[in-house]
Amino acid sequence: MTKPVILTGVRANNDLHIGNYFGAILPIVDMARRRSAEYIVNLFIPDLHSFTTPINHDQLFDSIMNNARVYAAAGLPLDDDAIQLYRQSYVSAHSELTIILNNFVGFGEMERMTQFKDKSAKLSNDRVSVGLFDYPVLMASDILLYNAMYIPVGDDQTQHLEITRDIAERMNHKFGELFTVPEPVAKQHQFFGKDQGLRIKDLQNPAKKMSKSDETGKGVIFLSDAPEVARKKIMSAATDSVGKVNYDKAAQPGISNLLEILTLVRQANGRAVSLKQTIDEFTGLERYGDFKKIVADEMSEFLANFQARLAQVNDDTILRKLESSEITANQTANQTLLRVQKAVGLRR
Ligand code: TRP
Repeated sequence: MTKPVILTGVRANNDLHIGNYFGAILPIVDMARRRSAEYIVNLFIPDLHSFTTPINHDQLFDSIMNNARVYAAAGLPLDDDAIQLYRQSYVSAHSELTIILNNFVGFGEMERMTQFKDKSAKLSNDRVSVGLFDYPVLMASDILLYNAMYIPVGDDQTQHLEITRDIAERMNHKFGELFTVPEPVAKQHQFFGKDQGLRIKDLQNPAKKMSKSDETGKGVIFLSDAPEVARKKIMSAATDSVGKVNYDKAAQPGISNLLEILTLVRQANGRAVSLKQTIDEFTGLERYGDFKKIVADEMSEFLANFQARLAQVNDDTILRKLESSEITANQTANQTLLRVQKAVGLRR
């Protein structure tokens, strides 16, 4: 029996921040470590998806490498053969399957994807690329090529997972058992746990998620921020006029966000404290400045340690991991592609 496959794509992004780290990167690394005895874990960098919206192409190659480095610094075991780490564009079957599947997916279906609607609404019509439109079909290929069952993704990607299931079922109905149909979203949530980690909010505007599109950067702590820069950002985080530390997301969103951040960085610094313990420890404290200083100290320690680990990551080791995973990925993906090529009449 071959082991079931868990698969997820980790975007190439040069300015990763603590929201990405604690909300996505660390949970994926923890999941990979816990599951790799019983599952095959495929982590890949969807580099062909990177330019569905405009980017700086001079930086793309570096971003891809940097993403792999960040995973290593976050503790991804590169010597575990059950964990694969590969680049999408190094496995040409992703592109080829997409071109085939495109002919079995409707214009209307793609037009109704909410991510497409949101992203295209911000651009003039001529700047909305066919690549952006086709994003979900490429994503379906990413998943179906490897017979993946479990796909941990954020809420913003569940619609793409649903369409992947639709495409797989449609093809199986038309051509016989071609694809493994991934588990439905409800089952995915059961498998991975619905609430994967806390969602860190912007420090200046705690009503919204921390996001790199923040114009000033003052509300966002980047993994590359010098510890002293991060300290200033925490010390000037927006709070409230209540004047007492309390975990109340509605009335004191800024303070609540800092309590969550403090819990996460303490855990990352090796202290086994829960959110509840942190809340109990600080509730009622009247001097926000003192509280922020504690958060800032803990954050500085985390960033200094993380940046030291990142500096130690060896690029040759990363490249060897990518290249060996890409050999394995090509083998699996090409088997699926051949099955599809035969089914649609391209091969005998
Ligand atoms: N679209 C995903 C995101 O933005 C990344 C991704 C691409 C992905 N292909 C995938 C995730 C396949 C899971 C499976 O986060």
